[in-house]
Amino acid sequence: MKGVTIVDHPLVQHKLTLMRKKDTSIKSFRELLKEIGVLVCYEVTRDLPLEKVEIETPLTAMSAPQLAGKKLVFAPILRAGMGMLDGMLELSPAARVAHIGLYRDPATLECVEYYFKAPADMGERLVVVIDPMLATGNTAIAAVDRLKEAGATRIRMACLLASSEGLSKFLGHHPEVQVWTAAVDEGLNDHGYILPGLGDAGDRMYGTR
Ligand code: URA
Repeated sequence: MKGVTIVDHPLVQHKLTLMRKKDTSIKSFRELLKEIGVLVCYEVTRDLPLEKVEIETPLTAMSAPQLAGKKLVFAPILRAGMGMLDGMLELSPAARVAHIGLYRDPATLECVEYYFKAPADMGERLVVVIDPMLATGNTAIAAVDRLKEAGATRIRMACLLASSEGLSKFLGHHPEVQVWTAAVDEGLNDHGYILPGLGDAGDRMYGTR
């Protein structure tokens, strides 16, 4: 699908399978999500621009590459986004963080915002939205709407698992926002859960079911 990159690295695929298993412990689930966060971040940031700077090694002077421009903003959607954020911050520790609190009304599956806090200069930074589960697409669409309202112009989306229906809907609304995900599952059930999926990522991270 145009605009979607499947992170098909064997380590990511193996870890995702462990996460899908219903008997995987909360501890393992959380560790795996963090580890996949690192690996997905590596792919999402693969084409970041570099600039040359003059440095001194212990032996001589050289012109060496460093990241150009302002630091990234990671924008986790609460609460499951926090699990991938930890891994992404390990790889890019100076990134800024914009927290987005959205929940799905279980009756309508529509999004309700309850918290939003972002850096002031969003328009000058690349923003990576983090939501492990892109299911109906409604939450991701609302998050990107809100980030655009806050001034963001360069936005990417990092997921663990997406549904094909949710991806089509998301890209219909925000065609310029590229998505990275470890897998795309075919189905969604009547409650908006991805099938076969891995269940409720927030509950499995925090043991709230
Ligand atoms: N959110 C989840 O945590 N899991 C799903 O399958 C869908 C949305």
